[in-house]
Amino acid sequence: MTGSESSADDGLLVHLEYLAGLYPDLPLAHSRQSPVAEASPVTRTSPVKGDPGISLFPGGEEIRQEPGGEDRNSMNGESALIKLSGLSGIVASCRDCPLGESRTQAVFGEGDPKARLMFIGEGPGAEEDRTGRPFVGRAGELLTKMIGAMGLKREQVYIANAVKCRPPGNRTPELLERDACKHFLLDQIRIIRPGAIVLLGQTAIFSMLTQNSPISSVRGVESSLPDFPGIRVMPTYHPAYLLRNPQAKVLVWKDLQQVMSWLSLPLPADPGKK
Ligand code: URA
Repeated sequence: MTGSESSADDGLLVHLEYLAGLYPDLPLAHSRQSPVAEASPVTRTSPVKGDPGISLFPGGEEIRQEPGGEDRNSMNGESALIKLSGLSGIVASCRDCPLGESRTQAVFGEGDPKARLMFIGEGPGAEEDRTGRPFVGRAGELLTKMIGAMGLKREQVYIANAVKCRPPGNRTPELLERDACKHFLLDQIRIIRPGAIVLLGQTAIFSMLTQNSPISSVRGVESSLPDFPGIRVMPTYHPAYLLRNPQAKVLVWKDLQQVMSWLSLPLPADPGKK
């Protein structure tokens, strides 16, 4: 079998999987636990340590489910998982823009298919292109800490990018590339239906809000997406920007705390108060 025959077969398979995903009652052999699938089963066992402005995003906070807080949404989670995996197969063979030719592999996104919180970054870098996973480089380490500071684990949120393929030399994705990829991101949001989305950096903001949304004016300002009026959107700085400008962490932490309050996640104790 030639390479092109095998990718045609793969394409057919993913389309079938995707169609199968449209039937939510299709049984799966396993069931998933989704600790943040509902409004409040999550409690933090310990508050975030330290002043977030100084030692920001300490991460690694354990969370647990309250007794009786088992996942009440597992069928939806399974169906979302099937739909996402079908969509991911389509993305894997996408050639809708020039990035499809130069990438090693598409980076679809990862996380809880029914996450209440979604992060959207810019696009894969070298490490992501190599591993096929989003946010695994230095910026990814910081993002993981940011998620930890919110009392969550990476696998409890969903992480995706404005474009699924690495731009050569890690350049910023162009308008044409963002536009070509946007429908995949909208499909991801449609399937996951998070309660809140954090847009990380200017590219994600341009992609999801308007082209007239400079980060300097929209950062920290609650926004919404025309197609998803119920989802609360927080534009903030990209972790890569924070690596270069650590003084901006305090602003991002403020934004993330705002998002936590939207989701009724327990806020860390104010270090100044008992
Ligand atoms: N890694 C990603 O997946 N996205 C970014 O925006 C940056 C690094």
